[in-house]
Amino acid sequence: MSTNTLTIALPKGRLGVDALNALMAVGFGQTVNLESRQLIFYDEVNDVRYMIVKPVDVITYVYEGVADLGIIGKDSIMEENKDIYELLDLGFGQCKFAIAGYPNQTINPKDEVLRVASKYPFVSQKYFQSKEQKIEIIKLNGSVELAPLVGLSDVIVDIVETGSTLKANGLTILEDMFDISAKLISNRVSYRFKTAKINDLMQRLNSYLGVILWLKSLKIIVMH
Ligand code: PRP
Repeated sequence: MSTNTLTIALPKGRLGVDALNALMAVGFGQTVNLESRQLIFYDEVNDVRYMIVKPVDVITYVYEGVADLGIIGKDSIMEENKDIYELLDLGFGQCKFAIAGYPNQTINPKDEVLRVASKYPFVSQKYFQSKEQKIEIIKLNGSVELAPLVGLSDVIVDIVETGSTLKANGLTILEDMFDISAKLISNRVSYRFKTAKINDLMQRLNSYLGVILWLKSLKIIVMH
């Protein structure tokens, strides 16, 4: 380890697997084992340290400067609303933010307060504010689709990928909000002091993503 060591925060779970695959494809991350319980890995060849963290915590590690870089979904970036650099769209982890509920449920009752359950209170509040709709936020940490079913909320704001969770619970998308995908993010100070190293990684990832997009256009691979 040196003062020039690059530290990258990787999210646990599926996004982490996609992130590691992308890094490995460009010669990074070879020492990381996401299946072990180990939380820090060091790659001597590239002088890169990896931290394995909960997806919702990636931004915190990067914002606080404990990690120079992170890979995380745009949903978390929007919710955390922290002053970090968004360097690169990585193409994977594609899904969308949506308002969902029972078919025919109104999302704009104007004078009435709409009850919205979500893991994303900040995004929800901001979105409905722009529509001048008053809401009451019910903050949940998972299984958000349950809320309308049991009368805890009128609608939910959540990420939708395949739509199967909504469908399995008799719910539907009432309004699309934003497209989401994974991003490479950086701490602002780190970017200033480790520019060359970060740019090198960005360039490698960019070339790799270009090839992936080309293969996708040929329908050789399907990206999630
Ligand atoms: C996410 C999200 C939805 C679901 C969407 O939940 O909050 O519930 O995935 O995916 P789909 O459109 O492919 O069904 P996650 O799997 O992270 O679990 P959670 O409910 O515990 O947050």
